[in-house]
Amino acid sequence: MAKLLYSATMSLDGFITGAGGDMSWLTEYIGPNPTVDDVIIRTGSLLVGNRTFRGDDPHKGTEHEGEPFGGGWDGPQFVLTHHAPDTSPAPGITFVGDLETGIAAAKAAAGDKYVNVLGADTARQCLEAGELDEVLVCIAPLLLGDGVRLFEHPGGTDVKLERLSLTHAPSATNLWFRVVR
Ligand SMILES: NC(=O)c1ccc[n+]([C@@H]2O[C@H](COP(=O)([O-])OP(=O)(O)OC[C@H]3O[C@@H](n4cnc5c(N)ncnc54)[C@H](OP(=O)(O)O)[C@@H]3O)[C@@H](O)[C@H]2O)c1
Repeated sequence: MAKLLYSATMSLDGFITGAGGDMSWLTEYIGPNPTVDDVIIRTGSLLVGNRTFRGDDPHKGTEHEGEPFGGGWDGPQFVLTHHAPDTSPAPGITFVGDLETGIAAAKAAAGDKYVNVLGADTARQCLEAGELDEVLVCIAPLLLGDGVRLFEHPGGTDVKLERLSLTHAPSATNLWFRVVR
């Protein structure tokens, strides 16, 4: 059964984008990272928020612009949106209009691999629906000061996590957690 994994590269101060959705900061932190390589191999499908799908790309200007993980992964993507276009922009991309449908479709497509959840709003909803299994944060050594937070819950909450691993790469420190239910 597929598990849902929320993965992101985050600044030390907790942002997964810079101000205004800027992702150019990430480019210099995309380097050799065996933990990320492992996740990519173990990812069977993507559940992607539409702001991520349409947002800035750290691979902008390269031949891999617009491709998941900079071209390092290929497979079915399920994009959550209330405004699905009539046609898919590329093979393997399916627009879905609600979370439940998106999770079910992404899990079915992933088989026994991970559904990799991309986008903070999408991941929060998966968590609140009791569907998020794990979180992988690659902490990049910088402070962004503004942007989209890894996780936001107005009024606060208390989500317990159990650490599964701590690994180091030249460009990031990786923390992998299980969501305690
Ligand atoms: N640092 C990293 O590793 C990393 C990784 C991934 C993403 N990011 C960045 O994170 C940012 C996006 O995160 P985000 O939290 O702002 O947004 P997001 O989760 O990517 O996307 C949110 C959008 O998804 C659609 N959506 C969400 N829930 C839905 C539902 N239940 N039913 C139907 N549609 C739904 C809506 O799009 P519509 O308005 O079209 O309905 C909503 O505006 C981007 O800037 C991206 O570049 C960073």
